[in-house]
Amino acid sequence: MTSNFTINHQLEHRTIRKFKDQTLTADQLQTLYRVASQTSTSMFMQQASIMHITDDNLRAKIRQISGQPYVGANGDLFIFIVDLYRNQQIRHHNGFDDGRLHTTDIFFQGMEDTVLMLQNMAIAAESMGLGVTILGSINDHPAELVKVLQLPKLTFPVLGLQVGVPDQKPQLKPRLPLEMMSFENQYATQVNFEQLAKYDQIVTNYYDLRDTSKRIDSFTNQIDGQKLAKRSIDRDQIVQVLHDQELCLDFK
Ligand SMILES: Cc1cc2nc3c(=O)[nH]c(=O)nc-3n(C[C@H](O)[C@H](O)[C@H](O)COP(=O)(O)O)c2cc1C
Repeated sequence: MTSNFTINHQLEHRTIRKFKDQTLTADQLQTLYRVASQTSTSMFMQQASIMHITDDNLRAKIRQISGQPYVGANGDLFIFIVDLYRNQQIRHHNGFDDGRLHTTDIFFQGMEDTVLMLQNMAIAAESMGLGVTILGSINDHPAELVKVLQLPKLTFPVLGLQVGVPDQKPQLKPRLPLEMMSFENQYATQVNFEQLAKYDQIVTNYYDLRDTSKRIDSFTNQIDGQKLAKRSIDRDQIVQVLHDQELCLDFK
């Protein structure tokens, strides 16, 4: 297998949830922004933006929404936003209407830009010896988040990213065997449950050995459990919030 600086870092990826009481230097911040801005962008429309949340009050509100104590605590908090507003303003400035900006298609492209930008920043941060947590939890109460961030229509906060100097070194979390998630030409509709059982054992060992919260668990347990259980939660507001933000409103 090929080994180089980039690949070694990618293969060492683990989510960091405990950071030292330090913030990014101006140079680190500038570097991360530059990397993020150079990310590929669908149709060269640059429909993503980043908010650096430095205000303690705002960080506390986002932490409360996410329900996770490390959100907006030590380190730096970024919110990655699908941003179709900027292009709307450019079009309006030049006397054009909103065109296709409200469609699901254009939103989807904005999502693609936003997620890629986040991942690029995350990889750069890790290559600089920093640690990251990607934060889907910022959308546990999506209507509240849009309000707290005072976002204009045609924007939507997709993910947060907590970046900082690691204060822990968790073990690598084992992933599904490659045969279960990579296919050649033909999607394999038969899940290999024998292979899955072996993987479950590996995950159970991982949970047993990991030094932070020890627990008995497997991958299958998690898929069978609460994460996908039929229940109504505030995250189900996402479609409504998208519509309130005038996004994903297709032409009839
Ligand atoms: C889209 C996305 C959202 C995530 N949201 C959270 C989150 O809200 N809180 C958290 O602690 N980790 C979050 N994670 C991190 C995952 O829990 C983590 O990547 C996964 O358990 C695998 O562990 P690893 O990254 O250490 O390999 C998120 C990851 C992704 C890709």
